[in-house]
Amino acid sequence: MLSVPEFQTSPGMRDILPPESARWRRFVEVFARITEGAGYGQVVSPLLEDLGVFQRIGDATDVVTKEMYDFVDKGGRHVALRPELTASICRAFVQHRPLTPWKIWYTGSQFRYEKPQRGRFRQFDQVGVEVLGADDPYLDVEIIALGWEFFQALGLSKVTLLLNSLGEPDDRARYVDALKAYFEANLADLSEESRVTLQKNPLRVLDSKRAQDAALVSGAPQIADFYSDSAATHFAAVQAGLTALDIPFTVDSKLVRGLDYYRQTTFEYQGGTLESAQNALGGGGRYDGLVESLGGPPTAGVGFALGLDRTLIACDDEGVFPAPAPEVDVFVVDTTGGVEALQITAALRSLGIGADRAYENRSMKSQMKGADRSGATVAVIIGSNELEAGTVVVRPLRAERNLDADGNPVSNDVRDGAQVTIPRTDLLDYLQKALS
Ligand code: HAM
Repeated sequence: MLSVPEFQTSPGMRDILPPESARWRRFVEVFARITEGAGYGQVVSPLLEDLGVFQRIGDATDVVTKEMYDFVDKGGRHVALRPELTASICRAFVQHRPLTPWKIWYTGSQFRYEKPQRGRFRQFDQVGVEVLGADDPYLDVEIIALGWEFFQALGLSKVTLLLNSLGEPDDRARYVDALKAYFEANLADLSEESRVTLQKNPLRVLDSKRAQDAALVSGAPQIADFYSDSAATHFAAVQAGLTALDIPFTVDSKLVRGLDYYRQTTFEYQGGTLESAQNALGGGGRYDGLVESLGGPPTAGVGFALGLDRTLIACDDEGVFPAPAPEVDVFVVDTTGGVEALQITAALRSLGIGADRAYENRSMKSQMKGADRSGATVAVIIGSNELEAGTVVVRPLRAERNLDADGNPVSNDVRDGAQVTIPRTDLLDYLQKALS
């Protein structure tokens, strides 16, 4: 029996192995294609920042108060592994002062000390976009539409879009006061957990999924009654823009999201196949004010991040966006010692033809097993007879043999499923044509 290895990944952390890792890369490539085609450039940020950068996300946010991986480094600096990228991007904006609007996209790992479960990890990956320096409701729409287009490009059809506005900071503050007063007046009916949340952030009580809170939450004051004229106009324009693009959405006045920096527009994409607590594939909104809190000038900001893990779980559940097929076209089987395989694979690779081989001069049978596993289209086989005759055998690995109406092979060509023996000197030309 195999013993349990001494070292394994920590809870909530995983190795992403092939072919899943190729799927991850493809995921990011699709995201890059869509965002770069809309004028966004990639920012690569450090995994580690001064703790203060993330504290600006807000001190009523669990991500900041409970889930941060922070420590004092050897130089005495209090640093943290990033729990998200929006604060880092705002820090970078203040540091580098790029021209506005600054339209950027990113990808990478985030770290949150959460309770691991399906779709919830301690190290997880996101892709996202942020735009700094433009306060245009149609920019909110552009951003939401980019995320929507991305889900479509993956083949997902069950994603839904929830939309809300938290109003301007003053509206939000008045609303929070009203919520607090409302819940405090009904404290006896509120669950114990929500009473604790109420002290920290009354808005988050609206997030409660506990049955005991349901009636109170549904009767709570509505944010829409607190909008200033400009907040109402902004929100109306966002909805009109989404309608103009035929993007379906539902206004959900209880959508407050987990991070404190949001103002005005907030939105969330939901997957429809995961447990409700993990059903958010991604979300975002406006965060005018975050750049200022990091020492920059007043700057409008809007963006979103999508969880790679959760979105890929949604893809699995919907049976779309499978791992890509292996990139190897040719597998070289050489039972003459291995030098032939060394030369043939090198020549094929330099022509841009994916080529793999077996090692350790194994038996023909064992090398052919490797060929089957590789996913290659053809095997090139070279044994002592072929070596002596200056030939190679090209054997199709996946094609069915094509037969005519009389049951005879239609041709003596590997493209028709035939195994062929050809002069070694013709091999590269032959494969270039056969695989093109
Ligand atoms: P967030 O809602 O905290 O927003 O995270 C965005 C997405 O990251 C979630 O919807 C989810 O798919 C994924 N995610 C979050 N936590 C975990 C976890 N523990 N395990 C797996 N996936 C997870 C933000 O991070 C904001 N920075 C989004 C934003 C950008 N707002 C404005 N700009």
